[in-house]
Amino acid sequence: MAVSSNLLLLSASLLFFMVSPSMQASFRPKALVLPLSKDASTLQYITQIKQRTPLVPVKLTLDVGGDSSWVDCENGYVSSSYKPVPCNSAACNLAYSPSCGSCFGGPKPGCNNNTCNLFPTNNIKHGATIGEVAQDVVSVQSTDEKNPGEVVSVSKFMFTCAWSFLMEGLASGVKGVAGLGRTKISMPSQFSAAFSFPRKFAVCLSSSNGVVFFGDGPYTFLPSNIDISKSLVYTPLILNPAKTVGVASKGEPSSDYYIGVTGITVSEKPVALNKTLLSVNKQGYGGTKISTVVPYTVMETTIYKAVVEAFIKQIPGAPRVPVVAPFGTCFDAKSFGSSRVGPAVPQIDLVLPNRVVWRIFGANSMVQVKNDVLCLGFVDGGLEPTTSIVIGGHQMEDNLVQFDLAASRLGFSSSLLFRQTTCSNFNFTTAA
Ligand SMILES: *[C@@H]1O[C@H](CO)[C@@H](O)[C@H](O)[C@H]1NC(C)=O
Ligand SMILES: *[C@@H]1O[C@H](CO)[C@@H](O)[C@H](O)[C@H]1NC(C)=O
Ligand SMILES: *[C@@H]1O[C@H](CO)[C@@H](O)[C@H](O)[C@H]1NC(C)=O
Repeated sequence: MAVSSNLLLLSASLLFFMVSPSMQASFRPKALVLPLSKDASTLQYITQIKQRTPLVPVKLTLDVGGDSSWVDCENGYVSSSYKPVPCNSAACNLAYSPSCGSCFGGPKPGCNNNTCNLFPTNNIKHGATIGEVAQDVVSVQSTDEKNPGEVVSVSKFMFTCAWSFLMEGLASGVKGVAGLGRTKISMPSQFSAAFSFPRKFAVCLSSSNGVVFFGDGPYTFLPSNIDISKSLVYTPLILNPAKTVGVASKGEPSSDYYIGVTGITVSEKPVALNKTLLSVNKQGYGGTKISTVVPYTVMETTIYKAVVEAFIKQIPGAPRVPVVAPFGTCFDAKSFGSSRVGPAVPQIDLVLPNRVVWRIFGANSMVQVKNDVLCLGFVDGGLEPTTSIVIGGHQMEDNLVQFDLAASRLGFSSSLLFRQTTCSNFNFTTAA
């Protein structure tokens, strides 16, 4: 244990020296903020950074478990500060790079000789390709707790270059993916190292405009400037030792964030589940992970069926109506009253160790697909999926979820609607 945490410290400080030299000298931010929007047709959560010289806005799909950030270098990448990462360099070693690349047709962004390679992965279309690892300037806004503040930049932000075909399935206008996963080169690791702030980030998804915070709280929301970082409940993050998506060439661990769901209850009544499915096995299969590229929580078939059955049993009088894909259970919307936290339906709890629960209320369990139709917003993942439960975007909207990498724990707020705010209530107006 001691040895591995020392190693982590060592590599974190290494990264610090690599990415920090030309950041602005005087101002050191305590936290950064990125805006989020939701793309109506793909249901992806989109953020925007500025990158390159001269700086241009670059839209990226948020992938909370993504191992690195990647952008399309084939189409329209123009920058005087682009630098390929050489093979066997310290930066390359941080990236778990499997190979050294050469390229015919260059030199140009994405095509240089003797460069460090990675496999950028599209977790929406499940595609991966080989790509050159590179560094370029990235600029984002810091925050003074309540508003966005001074713009800061990381001069050697590491990312992977992808070819244009890997953009398939990404929302229109998006140029790549922001990878926030559990790696040394993910966006949160690089920002924390560059500005020496705590290795934490928080995601607040919204069906309109959400926010990502890098660094520690306060995470302040209007209308009453409530600090949500003070009211988080924590559960340990679990490291899956085997990467199960993308290309695992060096036996690296998964970059996804897993939590130890031990059971599910509906109206506080336990649902009978096959517990074997709930833990991660040696091959990396099973367990529960968090994803922002899956729009609705996906459950292995037997878990899905048991939860749906338990839910229906609690509301015997609610008329069922024809289903609307991808859902399997829909109701006449008039059957339910409304509450502060959405349609008044039985609550679904994900049970976690030490009697902690992640409680899912109507706003997060139900999806309004038409005026008069509400569907239970979970999706059948089939038999033998790689991961038994993938907690998706809809279930996290208007809940603040904090990833505390140093303490290896996940903090979550439950529904912000209870506190009369939402994830779209961060004040993005820059203070004068
Ligand atoms: C890489 O090296 C090969 C062989 O020496 C050469 O043909 C090619 O043009 C070089 N590519 C770049 C991008 O420099
Ligand atoms: C529970 O799931 C495991 C893993 O898929 C499977 O091997 C086992 O047969 C299942 N047990 C029952 C009782 O269905
Ligand atoms: C948002 O922040 C700006 C800048 O500090 C401030 O002028 C404005 O009043 C804030 N909005 C609300 C609703 O408090």
